Amino acid sequence: MKIPLCVPFMDDAESAVVCDVLKSGWLAHGPMCKEFEEKFAKYVGVKHAITLNSCTSALQLAIMAQGRKGEIILPTFTFVASANAVVTSGCKPVFAEVDFETRNIDPVDIEKRITKDTVGIMPVHYGGQVCRMDEIMELADKHGLFVIEDSAETIGGLYDGKVGGSFAAGCFSFYPTKNMTTGEGGILTTNDDKVKEFVSTMRGHGVSSSTWARERAEKPWIRAATMAGFNYRMCDILAAVGVVQMGKLDEMNDLRRKHAMYLNTQLAGMDGVNVPLEMPKCKHVYQMYTITLDDSVDRTKFLALLRDKGVGASVHFDPPVHLQPYYMDAYGCKKGDYPVSEKLTERIVTLPMYPALGKDELDYVVSAIESALRESVV
Ligand SMILES: Cc1ncc(COP(=O)(O)O)c(C=O)c1O
Repeated sequence: MKIPLCVPFMDDAESAVVCDVLKSGWLAHGPMCKEFEEKFAKYVGVKHAITLNSCTSALQLAIMAQGRKGEIILPTFTFVASANAVVTSGCKPVFAEVDFETRNIDPVDIEKRITKDTVGIMPVHYGGQVCRMDEIMELADKHGLFVIEDSAETIGGLYDGKVGGSFAAGCFSFYPTKNMTTGEGGILTTNDDKVKEFVSTMRGHGVSSSTWARERAEKPWIRAATMAGFNYRMCDILAAVGVVQMGKLDEMNDLRRKHAMYLNTQLAGMDGVNVPLEMPKCKHVYQMYTITLDDSVDRTKFLALLRDKGVGASVHFDPPVHLQPYYMDAYGCKKGDYPVSEKLTERIVTLPMYPALGKDELDYVVSAIESALRESVV
């Protein structure tokens, strides 16, 4: 049996809507983007959602919109894009430790790293579970810092009944491995009108849509650039896929949760394996299903055995960002700086997780784990 790490949940509805857009004659940023933005903002529970070409663009623009430069505290245990957005927006990344059990940034460690140069905090909601946002927002208030939520890996996860990405500026990814997909794409959510205006302008060459709307009445050919912007727009073909996927988001997340519960019960008693934790205030939406292995298991051998059996297991993330060559060179980071994250990097395994997984496939994964464990004890 072959079980990939993830498979997008698509059917004829996505194909049909793409064909409709292709036939409509309007392919670029347009009415489907607007519809997607309205639906997404409503789902997250915020005033604005702005479609973009990626989550990385959303993170970069969310930081730039704050108009402050300095240090931003983020976890080292994340995908390198989180830190790259800090650097490309002209700020300095300061890495913090994560909590081993949830893989999310540790608010106690954040506070230790706040200096007079700190301007912001970027919690990353790892693999489907929202960070401890009450403590993080309290720290931000206390120290006058902005917060950018990297919610690339968590679309629809809840903390204290609120959707991740609604606490501050939320940045989401629609890459095919995420809770919902448009192939490539991202979106930024905010209640702040100024952030909305800045991001909408910067994504389209710095041409302010409100200025354009104002001038359009008399001279529709004028496009006034008020800033030196980018082209970070989403196109209507992808936004249409996003609208269809949004309609399935709760169903897809419910299926992920059901598969995770099943794996939890099947793996719970196995020696050497620790199943993921859902924290008390959270609704986890399992964009990834990750286990950790005790030191008694050779992880490299375990992964190779699973992959030989057709189970697309992997590691997210190895290396942690502070051990990426660029960050070691540019910021002098070195091995030993973040012991919890380094240990997690060595012990974590990502197992297949996607809505369409069947019971036979889940059972196959479980029995492959059982036999791989037997062969990889050190
Ligand atoms: C935590 C995190 N942040 C940012 C990104 C970047 O998202 P995108 O590929 O949409 O730019 C990813 C993508 O995988 C991610 O996992």
